[in-house]
Amino acid sequence: SRSALTERISAVGIVPVVVLDDADRARDVALALRDGGIGCAEFTLRTPAGLAAIAATADIDGFLAGAGTVLTVEQADAAIDAGASFAVTPGYDPAVADRLRAGGVEVVPGVATPTEVQRALADGFRDVKIFPAGHLGGAGYLDALHGPFPDMRFVPSGGVDPGSLGDYLRRSWVLAASGSWMVPRDVIARGDFDTIRTAAADCARIRDD
Ligand code: 3PG
Repeated sequence: SRSALTERISAVGIVPVVVLDDADRARDVALALRDGGIGCAEFTLRTPAGLAAIAATADIDGFLAGAGTVLTVEQADAAIDAGASFAVTPGYDPAVADRLRAGGVEVVPGVATPTEVQRALADGFRDVKIFPAGHLGGAGYLDALHGPFPDMRFVPSGGVDPGSLGDYLRRSWVLAASGSWMVPRDVIARGDFDTIRTAAADCARIRDD
């Protein structure tokens, strides 16, 4: 059976990818997303602020703080310590995924091909991120993967946008759709959290349609 946390992500349905230059913005970004109707985010470890952002938002009510771009077991340990409730990886490294899982973090590992889906399935993962989904062929590519893997749930990310969001989310086996479009780096930089809340609300409306 699937975890309660995965079901919470599924209920939110959209996972904003947040690249922060300044961890001091993390709480306001998280609150803007939550208040717009999207109660989760992936803070990427692409910038040093990512870990502090997770730590700063892990206790927000109605919000799930996740770690993204987790590439190494050291980063996995750091994400666990920061209090991440979930983590995603761009590709599939069993050592990294296992470390996260052992640390009590819900991990959605990234895959791109049938071989990788099969490998993740063999290792006990039933929910995988498909990256970069938009560039691999979008919803049509997901449909092709869904055929042989009917029990896997997919999180498309990479090239997803408001125009394709609804098409992904119509598929019952799409756990959530993910991407960075809701939280542009320059919008964070100028502290325009209203724009983030509005972008989140627009996407929540597509989800709820
Ligand atoms: C990810 O890590 O999933 C991607 O950076 C999100 O892709 P996008 O920037 O194309 O939305």
